[in-house]
Amino acid sequence: MKVIPIQAARVPAAPFAGGPLTDTRGRWLRDLRISVTDRCNFRCVYCMPREVFDANHPFLPHSQILSFEEIARLARVFVGLGVKKIRLTGGEPLVRKQVPRLVAMLAELPVEITLTTNGSLLARQAQALADAGLDRVTVSLDSLDDATFRAMNDADYPVAKVLEGIEAAAAASLAPVKINMVVKRATNDHHILPMAEHWRGSGHIVRFIEYMDVGSTNGWRMDDVVPSSEVVRRISERWPLEPIDPNYPGEVAERWRYRDGAGEIGVISSVTQAFCASCNRMRLSTEGSLFTCLFAQSGHDLKRLLRGGASDEELRAEIAAVWQRRDDRYSEIRTAETAKQRKIEMSYIGG
Ligand code: GTP
Ligand code: 5AD
Ligand code: SF4
Ligand code: SF4
Repeated sequence: MKVIPIQAARVPAAPFAGGPLTDTRGRWLRDLRISVTDRCNFRCVYCMPREVFDANHPFLPHSQILSFEEIARLARVFVGLGVKKIRLTGGEPLVRKQVPRLVAMLAELPVEITLTTNGSLLARQAQALADAGLDRVTVSLDSLDDATFRAMNDADYPVAKVLEGIEAAAAASLAPVKINMVVKRATNDHHILPMAEHWRGSGHIVRFIEYMDVGSTNGWRMDDVVPSSEVVRRISERWPLEPIDPNYPGEVAERWRYRDGAGEIGVISSVTQAFCASCNRMRLSTEGSLFTCLFAQSGHDLKRLLRGGASDEELRAEIAAVWQRRDDRYSEIRTAETAKQRKIEMSYIGG
């Protein structure tokens, strides 16, 4: 297992000295989402439309992206500031080489480690990730219908391969496996019930996500959003549901369980029921910028400090200051106009 650099070890794992770190709206820093690559082998129509993310798209050069050692050092500082969960994202995180090595480095920290993936490379990596210390995975899957799924990922990638990845994750005890379905009206909303039916009783948890206006390239329109209330109503008409409590404060998904005991589903309602009031997430981009909101227009460059020889204490003070200044609540103030603003791309910051 990889040793964390000596300088990083000076950061105490204790909570922030002044008590819990809070932003201007009294929200704690709890989750850190780390994007390990801005690349992806899919071109989902709502995230990386092929016309924009084509052969000429300027993906980050290797010299600009944080090394695993740099990520692990920052992660230790974040954990010292109170972070309880780290989620690795992309682009598609598993297209970066040796992610299990990064997981092993992070596994030395007292923190839950999770990963959100499109599942395409999961079957062959699930066991190595689990062995390295990954706690669980979330797999994106927008339809069980092959033609619909291939059209949505725009990479002609079949459903069966993602299902193999999910099974490999479950076999490696990366559980409970969560399955994310982004619901877009008239594209895949007729697959809500088949998706619910497929995973009922499996022990896996499917979550239906409202299609969001992230980035500036997906041509989002409110008419394309299927409100979670409609998703819950449609499923409940077939298999009655009842609400259950969150697993942890600020959980993004609202949980519902089947009254017949066949497990639970989640709905993520960023558009129709904004959850900014409890938003406890910071995002670290592949190139080492901090973002305090998924819909931010710009980030705070940490890499400059990191590569400029800053001490852990200086990094800690900088991160704390960024969080303490934080005022974001984009989903509460979204309008048709804000939806058109320039924002960072989802594939760059990892959702
Ligand atoms: P767990 O609760 O740990 O299982 O994971 P999660 O739901 O936080 O992570 P996941 O990557 O599965 O995120 C689910 C969906 O919620 C993705 O579409 C994210 O983009 C979206 N999401 C996560 N955090 C936020 C957020 O802070 N704001 C908004 N608007 N959407 C978010
Ligand atoms: N709206 C909602 N969810 C999205 N995701 C990607 N783009 C969007 C969008 N525009 C989802 C992915 C993945 C998660 C990280 O975010 O499908 O499950
Ligand atoms: Fe699709 Fe995820 Fe890749 Fe975006 S990053 S294109 S949502 S698989
Ligand atoms: Fe948090 Fe921004 Fe999402 Fe609101 S819109 S929940 S502030 S990331």
